[in-house]
Amino acid sequence: MSSEFESELRVKRVSVRKRSRDGKSSCLTPVKKKTCSPSHSCEAAMYKVQLHHHDTEWREKNETTELSPDMQDKECHSDDDLFGDYDSLANESSFLAKLDDVEHNFAPACSSPYLETVKHGYANNGNTVAEMRNLEAHSDGKHKVKCPDTEDFTVLKTVNCRDDTKSCHVGNADSILISDLMDDFSDDLPSSQLMLQQENKTVTKQTSSEQSGPLNPFRGEMSSVKEDEDLIRHSLNSVTHLAEPVLNRRRSLKDHLKSTMTGNARAQSPQVSRAKQQKDAVVTKEINLAVKTIESTSDVDLGPFFGLPSKVKELFQKHRGIKELYEWQRTCLTLESVQQRKNLIYSLPTSGGKTLVAEILILRELLCRKKDALFILPYVAIVQEKVRGLASFGLELDFIIEEYAGSKGKYPPIKRRLKNSLFIATIEKGHSLVNSLIEANRLENVGLIVVDELHMLGEGSRGAILEITLAKVLFASKTTQIIGMSATLNNVGDLQKFLKAENYSSDFRPVQLKEYVKLSDCIYEVDCKEEDCFKFSRPLSFKYSSNMKKMDPDHLIALVTEVIPMHSCLMFCPTKKNCENVAGMICKYLNKCFIQHREKEKTDLLDEIRSAGNGSICSVLKQTIPFGIAYHHSGLTNDERKLIEEAYSAGVLCLLTCTSTLAAGVNLPARRVILRSPYVATEFLKRNQYKQMVGRAGRAGIDTSGESILILQEKDKLLAKALVSRPLENCYSNLMHDNRKGLQNLILSLIGLNISRTPADIHEFVSCTLFSVQQEHLSSEKNLWDITMETVSFLTEKGLIMSTAGSHGDTVLEVTKLGRATYKGSIDLSYCDVLYSDLKRGLGGLVLDSILHLIYLVTPYDMVAHCKPDWMIYFRQFTQLTAVEQNMASMVGVPESYIAKKASGQSLKKGVDSLTVNRFYLAFVLFALLKETNVWVVADKFNLARGFVQSLLGSSSAFCSCVVHFTEELEEFWAYRALFIELTKRLTYCVKAELIPLMEVAGILEARAKQLYCAGYKTLAHLANADPNVLTKTIQNMSKRQANQMVASAKMLLTEKAEALQEEVDELLTFPSDLPS
Ligand SMILES: Nc1ncnc2c1ncn2[C@@H]1O[C@H](COP(=O)(O)OP(=O)(O)OP(=O)(O)O)[C@@H](O)[C@H]1O
Ligand SMILES: [Mg+2]
Repeated sequence: MSSEFESELRVKRVSVRKRSRDGKSSCLTPVKKKTCSPSHSCEAAMYKVQLHHHDTEWREKNETTELSPDMQDKECHSDDDLFGDYDSLANESSFLAKLDDVEHNFAPACSSPYLETVKHGYANNGNTVAEMRNLEAHSDGKHKVKCPDTEDFTVLKTVNCRDDTKSCHVGNADSILISDLMDDFSDDLPSSQLMLQQENKTVTKQTSSEQSGPLNPFRGEMSSVKEDEDLIRHSLNSVTHLAEPVLNRRRSLKDHLKSTMTGNARAQSPQVSRAKQQKDAVVTKEINLAVKTIESTSDVDLGPFFGLPSKVKELFQKHRGIKELYEWQRTCLTLESVQQRKNLIYSLPTSGGKTLVAEILILRELLCRKKDALFILPYVAIVQEKVRGLASFGLELDFIIEEYAGSKGKYPPIKRRLKNSLFIATIEKGHSLVNSLIEANRLENVGLIVVDELHMLGEGSRGAILEITLAKVLFASKTTQIIGMSATLNNVGDLQKFLKAENYSSDFRPVQLKEYVKLSDCIYEVDCKEEDCFKFSRPLSFKYSSNMKKMDPDHLIALVTEVIPMHSCLMFCPTKKNCENVAGMICKYLNKCFIQHREKEKTDLLDEIRSAGNGSICSVLKQTIPFGIAYHHSGLTNDERKLIEEAYSAGVLCLLTCTSTLAAGVNLPARRVILRSPYVATEFLKRNQYKQMVGRAGRAGIDTSGESILILQEKDKLLAKALVSRPLENCYSNLMHDNRKGLQNLILSLIGLNISRTPADIHEFVSCTLFSVQQEHLSSEKNLWDITMETVSFLTEKGLIMSTAGSHGDTVLEVTKLGRATYKGSIDLSYCDVLYSDLKRGLGGLVLDSILHLIYLVTPYDMVAHCKPDWMIYFRQFTQLTAVEQNMASMVGVPESYIAKKASGQSLKKGVDSLTVNRFYLAFVLFALLKETNVWVVADKFNLARGFVQSLLGSSSAFCSCVVHFTEELEEFWAYRALFIELTKRLTYCVKAELIPLMEVAGILEARAKQLYCAGYKTLAHLANADPNVLTKTIQNMSKRQANQMVASAKMLLTEKAEALQEEVDELLTFPSDLPS
């Protein structure tokens, strides 16, 4: 590292706790006065609540909106919390299960006709042992870099925040939607809303003028498809030279493929302009220059844009609006460790702009080093968003993007000779992809692996899968660089040791965040320098009637109306039920003039949500959306969630009441973030969760500041002090989670992949895991060797591996056929033998007269625990089966007599396996879904939450694709393969067949596909050749950005498919080098 460079890097620290407070204070936050000034200069103050019920004139002027009785509809009472948005088959539900329990326990309270103060007893949270780093003072607030072997940061301090028997007041809003609240409350209206009414005209004017801005004509999209055609043509021509001897024989095949592919892309085929050709030539030249630069110098980066062509910079500006990199981003990209391609972990607060750095590094790998790259993201929806967001980059810079999420992704991926691939994957799919690349001896083609949200290493079975993946990469490819990023890392030293990585961290936040808490009627600023941690800031201004005081004891309405509708606000609630109730309660007391704000767009949104539900709409959303408010949690369908997120991002919705799931990964920042209680379900917030939530405050480029307000009850004050001041929780290995399942999986696949096959080799590999780094802390009573050998014995007993004698008389381990099928299919070890015997039994009498039997075979085992059958419904559904289906049911172990007895309320003890019976019930749900293709109707039929039904469908399609890989490895199951491949497709889309080609494009869900289909966009080629300008005009509620991204994604998919075919052609026509002469 040059000394000049060193001076740039300054002192590194890891803590993200300390932040600069010398920025300008929020215009939403009055200076520390005892009284609240009514004349805050900011516009939001116009909506500040001044509630007084004496004002009769006000009462006359302002009618409030009542909640309709149908708000109690069961559709909105989602009792599950399966976010279902990741690919995990081993369900990670500890937190979710708790949430379920709480909601389940609260159900009676919610249906009570009287308001109750709901108390949340919470379990011991004393295990929150925060291991604190004793950090060096960080006087200048800048960054520094630390190597893993530097030891000076590991002084640990333990803070024990044990507190056992507390209870949490969540507020009356939990039971707000009840009939006795439908009384007249027009006298409770805030006077500030009168101001809103007065201002409304101006607001509406402003908004409409903002919206009616001139549309930018979109250019340059069409030519790429033409380019793709040319490429295909060119490639086909080049095959001519490669395979001259077989050319004539193959001509018909070639012509056939050529005409199919070009025909596909020919809907509109404009000529490639000369300017475009010249532009492309410049890009190629710059890339070549950059490649040469990188080759000739290892530590100096002379490319026009961090080693990349300046075209890349233009693209970031065009598609992301990013003109300049932040200083930390520049520093990070020019780190010596990055130049030398060392592994790197970088940590910055939420919204710090981490992704951009990762993307630039990925582009360098693809364009300059000509290697593939893998980007691992936590959720399916985020993978799809990233695929969409990067599609234009792929098209313009000539690389392929391949989606690995849900049931999508090929193993091993198609070998591409002309272009490099960026694989964007969930954690689970990323693992399978790495396995397949190791097996095909192609892992070294992946030059870079980027892991977003690296702290996921510490999250249950998913964390274990991530750890296993990275450990294998470290072992199997010395040239693959690993980069991890996170906002919430404390014990980064452990992770550095595991990944052999350098660390870079900074406290940078583009928008200043001010943290506050609210205690009774006052707002206090969080200031850890103060002895009390909370410094008085201002009293909260509100005038509530006694009725409102009762309904809104935490003054939520006062807090939100300080910012909405002009600014956005997120309110984190402890449970899903609470999200819905709080949204309903707030709307109940809001002035009707809130309805007029962006009214047309909100009406359109409601129409879209209704049409996404095939005419059904949740009664809470129907009530709240006109006020610009919606709830956001896992009970929403994917379509609803997407529409709500888009409307919120566009400012059409101004307040989302949400669960903590929104804090993880979804990019939905807000001007103000309110934490409605310091609890998630019944557990007191963890520091990491708190940071993730408050970190959503402040939108880069939009807000000048962001603020968070944590609503506290006096009893929680002490815990809250610890919460705002202690260091982040440590991230620990999860290989031992769930009875060592992670370690079992690891060892099974190590043997299967021929990475380590002797006990000593396995032990050596396990010594390189994060678990090994943290072993003393995690499992000090047993040594690593014993743990490893116990696991080997377990796998042997389970029939997944066996010992053989090696050539030197030593023990060599091998996977059995079942073992191979299990790791290849990523099947949970708890279920692999049940799956095997279910499939085996199926062979004896597979019923293909109906799809029910096949569905049953791929109904995910891990979902069973989340759904108790409603026996009456079960019986009704059973009686509607055909005789053949009923026979099949009893053959798999579900006799009608059993269901009938259960439905009549008899308790039965023996004879029937409850896993089978309950699983069959879920198969019924899926069966109905495939028939109806309507989540709402099916949810209604089975009395389930629609979000659960949707997540069941997602899990089933993912599991079905796993079963395909499982059956591929077991000869006796050969016949299943074709059937399950087809079934995977049906479960993945679960829509009318005509919509499938459109829904293959990342991020196009059913509602959008229907709109497009009705507007005449019926095939992938239609979409790929669509004009984004026309789309925005003809498709309701489609922004220019969405249209551009959608067209780019469609083009990318078309290119990807065409090139895959091309690769096949090339391979077929390649003259074999070892042809016997
Ligand atoms: N240099 C930049 N100039 C302007 N905006 C930027 C810049 N870099 C990133 N952004 C924008 O900042 C926002 C937040 O960036 P990003 O999502 O990468 O944050 P993050 O650090 O990954 O946060 P999180 O921890 O929440 O995932 C994005 O909208 C991004 O486009
Ligand atoms: Mg991020």
